[in-house]
Amino acid sequence: MRLTILGGGGFRVPLVYRALLADQGKGRVTEVVLHDLDPARTAVIGRVLADQAAGVPDPPSVTATTDLDEALTGTDFVFSAIRVGGTEGRVADERIALEEGVLGQETVGAGGIAYGLRTVPVAVRIARRVAAVAPDAWVINFTNPAGLVTEAMSRHLGDRVIGICDSPVGLGRRVAAALGVDPASAWFDYAGLNHLGWLRAVRVGGRDVLPDLLADEAALTSFEEGRLFGAEWLRAIGAIPNEYLHYYDFNRDAVAAMRAAERSRGALVLEQQCDFYARPAGGPGSALEAWEATRRARESTYMAENREAAGAGERAASDLESGGYEKVALALMRAIAHDERTTLILNVRNRGALAGLDDDAVVEVPCFVDGNGARPVTADPLTGHALGLVTTIKAVERAVLAAATTGSRAAALRALATHPLVDSVAVARRLLERYETDSPHLGYLRGKADR
Ligand code: G6P
Ligand code: MN
Repeated sequence: MRLTILGGGGFRVPLVYRALLADQGKGRVTEVVLHDLDPARTAVIGRVLADQAAGVPDPPSVTATTDLDEALTGTDFVFSAIRVGGTEGRVADERIALEEGVLGQETVGAGGIAYGLRTVPVAVRIARRVAAVAPDAWVINFTNPAGLVTEAMSRHLGDRVIGICDSPVGLGRRVAAALGVDPASAWFDYAGLNHLGWLRAVRVGGRDVLPDLLADEAALTSFEEGRLFGAEWLRAIGAIPNEYLHYYDFNRDAVAAMRAAERSRGALVLEQQCDFYARPAGGPGSALEAWEATRRARESTYMAENREAAGAGERAASDLESGGYEKVALALMRAIAHDERTTLILNVRNRGALAGLDDDAVVEVPCFVDGNGARPVTADPLTGHALGLVTTIKAVERAVLAAATTGSRAAALRALATHPLVDSVAVARRLLERYETDSPHLGYLRGKADR
């Protein structure tokens, strides 16, 4: 079985390869094709993969190419984990938003819109090539903003593209541990959009045990989301939000902490990664050791400003072992390839699962997965505030998709101005001007004001 990784020189590729190496089952991945526009980055990552494979019997072969059609032809699965504009693009997304006084974040708010405007045209081009040269392949999309990008690709690939994220799994794992239940025996009633969902119930043996957790102060504040949001707020809403909701629920505090920080998250990640990718081959220590050290430094500082604003303290050691996105990817791939039924929280077209959103809207909900792909399980409707927020953000995403597919600058302005974390059309207008000027990738919007 062949797996093609788009963004093959990306920092998280060794996580995926590590999971592949641990899989010794029948019908496992035997060939990995790394596709990246930057062969130098792929070469660095290739050295880490070689270190990982040392001593492992029959490791999957690894080849690299910069030719997209060559990477796609004959493949069974495509993992798309690209970063259009690189980490430098992320730094600009975050900085410009913070300078305008609004949240500067990779996937949420103005930063996420800029990232989406940059990424969707490229994701669509990739989806078209997959449809042309590998129509039977399944695409697993990690590329952020994952829900929006999956929806863009689904317009060309239908339900053969499935988006994934590690945050719902991480939340489920942490809540199960706080409750002392086996996650495999629980049903997690999680629903929303990517980076915008809520865990509303945890069913064990037919009973919802989430109220037990909400009633137990010590257990409730023993894990990341509990410490971030605080017991009082979690009780007030009767659910556990995805950690990304912290950017909404505590927006002013998060923005203040980000503006006070020495550098943005993207700038820190860029600095860490520059050192790693610039490391000379054959320098002191192995490539794998250097990658591990960088990964640990990155994980331990994840959402640091939010945790600081909330007084949440350090990240738990159990959360540093990566959120498990590679495990979701592998579980998804195995279930499809071997027609083994499993349940995973994924980003798929709604098809009636979540009331209030149309059938083509990509949502993040529990799905049944087997050889036929992923099918969303009908969920209880979202209500009130959550429904309003999800509907609003889906409309923002649709405006981004319209801008990216037609070049409409008016749609881009609408996306920014109607986002609840951008509080003025004047701010939205300035943001758009600055993003256009700063990013060669957004040049396609210039002079398209009237569409
Ligand atoms: C989580 C999210 C990913 C996101 C990552 C950012 O894992 O689920 O979608 O890309 O955090 O982490 P970073 O270290 O780049 O800030
Ligand atoms: Mn994610």
